[in-house]
Formats: sequence, C-alpha cells, structure tokens
Amino acid sequence: MSANYQSPRYAHIVGWGKYVPPNVLTNEELAKKVDTTDAWIRKNTGIVERRIATKETTAAMALYAAQDALEVADVNPNEIDLIIVATSTPEYIFPATASIVQDKLGAQNAGAFDLSAACSGFVYGLAVAAGMIRGGTYNTVLVIGAETFSRLLNWKDRATCILFGDGAGAVLLQGRDEPGGILSTILGSDGSGGELLEIPAGGSKNPTSLETVMANAHFVKMNGREVFRFATRIMVDATKQALQKANLTLDDMDLMIPHQANIRIIDHAIKTMGLPPEKVYMNLDRYGNTSAASIPLALVEAIEEKRVKPGDRLVFVGFGGGLTWGSCAVEWTEPVVKRAIPPAKAAQSKLRYQWANVKSLGHRVLRRVDDGVNRALDLIDKPENVNGNGNKK
Ligand SMILES: CC(C)(COP(=O)(O)OP(=O)(O)OC[C@H]1O[C@@H](n2cnc3c(N)ncnc32)[C@H](O)[C@@H]1OP(=O)(O)O)[C@@H](O)C(=O)NCCC(=O)NCCS
Repeated sequence: MSANYQSPRYAHIVGWGKYVPPNVLTNEELAKKVDTTDAWIRKNTGIVERRIATKETTAAMALYAAQDALEVADVNPNEIDLIIVATSTPEYIFPATASIVQDKLGAQNAGAFDLSAACSGFVYGLAVAAGMIRGGTYNTVLVIGAETFSRLLNWKDRATCILFGDGAGAVLLQGRDEPGGILSTILGSDGSGGELLEIPAGGSKNPTSLETVMANAHFVKMNGREVFRFATRIMVDATKQALQKANLTLDDMDLMIPHQANIRIIDHAIKTMGLPPEKVYMNLDRYGNTSAASIPLALVEAIEEKRVKPGDRLVFVGFGGGLTWGSCAVEWTEPVVKRAIPPAKAAQSKLRYQWANVKSLGHRVLRRVDDGVNRALDLIDKPENVNGNGNKK
C-alpha cells in the first residue's frame, strides 16, 4: 500500500532475525561424497561446516527470519508497506517468494517482490528500501536475504559444492526523523563477467530440456579464480566508497560485515585496508556462503555476540554473480538488548500467523467457488458460448 510520508526521513534498522536449518553438513561428511578433504576446504575457504535445508524452502526460511525481525521491532505485519526478498534460489520463477512470505505473514498492506542480484542482493535490497523510506513513499520495509543453494549445486563438482550453505536473515527498516540508520549505499554491476558465476539453464534463454538436464546446466557453474580476483578488488573499493559517501573514514568504522564467501577474500581485504581483525565480523566457518542471506545472518549473529551497539558505524559489503557488488554504511541506533517477550504477546503473534494461514486458505477456497459459480452461471446464461471445459469460447 502506498503511503506518503514527510520526506526526508532516515531509514533505521529496527528489527532483525535469522533462520538456519538445523541439519549440519561438516567438511568430513562432504569428503565422503566428493573428492576433497577437510584440510583443503579449511585452508582454501575457511569453511568448516554448512547448514543444508531438508524440509525447509526459501520462503519458509525467509518467513521465520522475518517473524523474528518483526518480534524484535515489536511491529505488526499489517504495518509493513513493502517486502523485498533478495534471493537467487526463489521457490519459483514466479510467483515471487516475497509474495509467499507476504501471505504467510498476513502482511495485508504490503507490496512484495523478489530481487535478483546474487550475493549482493541483500545490500541491493537495503538500498531500495532506504531510498523508498527517504523519499517518503514507504515507512516500514522488510528486507530479507534467503537462499537454498544446496538444491542448485552439483554435488559432484568439488569446486562449488563445498562453498555454499542454506539460510535466511531479515531486517526491518523504518523511517524516523532522527538522523542515523542507512547513511550511504553504493551499487555496482559488470555484466561482462556474468558467465563467471551462473546457472546456465532454466531461464528463457536456455529453457529446461532433456539436453540441459543431461548437461548439468541447472547447477551453479563458477570460474573460482576469476571470481576470487574480482571479489578481492571490489570488496576494498566498495567499502571505501560507502564510507566516503557517508563522509566517514576507515578509522570511523566500528565493524565491517562482509559477504561471507571465503576467509581468504576477507583476509585480503583486512590486510589491504590495514584493519584490525576485530573490526571485521565472520561466521563463514559455520555456514559457508549463504549468498544473499550471508550479510543479514552475520549481522544478527554479530548482534547476538554483542559486537554491535548504538552509535556504532557499520559497513556491509556484498559481491557476487552478475557480476554485482554493493556496500552500505550504517549508523546503528537501536538498543541491542533482547527484550523479553511477554507470553501473552508471543501467543498473540502465533495466533496472528495462524489466522493469516486460515484467511489465505479461505481466499483460495472462495476464489475456486467464485470461479465455479461464474462458470455455472455462464452455462445457464448462454450454453453455446461455453466449451466442454466450462471455459468461455
Ligand atoms: C573455489 C576456490 C576456493 C578454489 O581455490 P583455488 O585456489 O582458486 O583453486 P583452483 O580452482 O585453482 O584449484 C587448485 C587445485 O585445487 C583443486 N581443488 C579444487 N577444489 C577442490 C576441493 N574442494 N578439494 C580438493 N581440491 C580441490 C583443483 O582441482 C586444483 O587441482 P590441480 O592443481 O591438481 O588442478 C577459490 O577459487 C575461491 O574461493 N574463489 C571464489 C569463489 C567464491 O567465493 N564464489 C562466490 C562469490 S559470491
């Protein structure tokens, strides 16, 4: 729903949440499936284990992370104006995963769309949300990064299957008059490098066929070396640019939360920028590369580990397929102490989500009944205009 708020407003992160599947796949377990070793993976990527969705889907994980974010912010779903799901592993080509999340949340006043910018998607989502809020179009925007890459990996390709994991992270942004929140955003793209990291088939250029399936063309394909070279350069440049745009320097930055692709990429950036390691947050050892989910997942864990406090200046920096990159300077303004949720409030939220499910089911049933009744009426009215399937000729 479009509302018009007094602009300019500042876009603050007021809620945050995450979900990771409980199912853990360690390097040792992986080494039983594909020709690799725990030692190689640790040394070359820093990854020790990752989470793999079993029953979970991208929308389900996005939903859980979103529910957490709303709970932290103490905001009702019907206050959300817009839901953006950054993902390269949506449930379907369409409908958008964001619409599924909107329905399950019962966010009846929200628009919803998916955003495709690979591992930079979450930062792209923040940029869109902050722009909408600053411009006064919307006041409350949910940005989610959610991925189920495990389902699009070739588990026989040791160069890619060791890298990725599943999960979701979400933040809720709200407009406020007080300065702070998202200070600057930088977005970039170099489509000439698209083939360096891609899923070649399944889109409109190479639709699914027996040949594409036989050629494993529906799985992630990557030129690791080239992506590595791109990532090390862009991470440093994009971080500096976001700080500069916010009139800050590296010294002003309290914590960098980079896309969790590879410890060697992050270490390179730390060295190049001369940063003390405690200024950089990493959790890739536990989750691997969760693509668009990696930055919000890392942000939530940094908060849980008390690495973020009001007044801190953070930089998020993402990079990946496209090629794309994005960075964002943030002045953190929210208290990070987890509020105790009164049992009555928790029960109310649960009821709200159950009711959203019932309403959604009701809408589906009503739509079917409506369709059936209309067809019957058409038949009675003008049988010659209706074909054997009950459709109008
Ligand atoms: C994938 C990556 C770890 C590979 O490391 P690398 O040093 O570039 O390795 P190479 O691909 O050059 O391969 C070096 C050797 O290791 C081998 N190797 C590759 N993957 C391996 C694995 N999982 N286990 C054991 N050996 C492996 C290769 O076969 C090659 O062997 P060879 O020398 O006998 O031919 C690295 O390129 C990388 O991290 N790239 C960036 C990927 C990324 O982050 N993508 C997402 C961005 S959002």
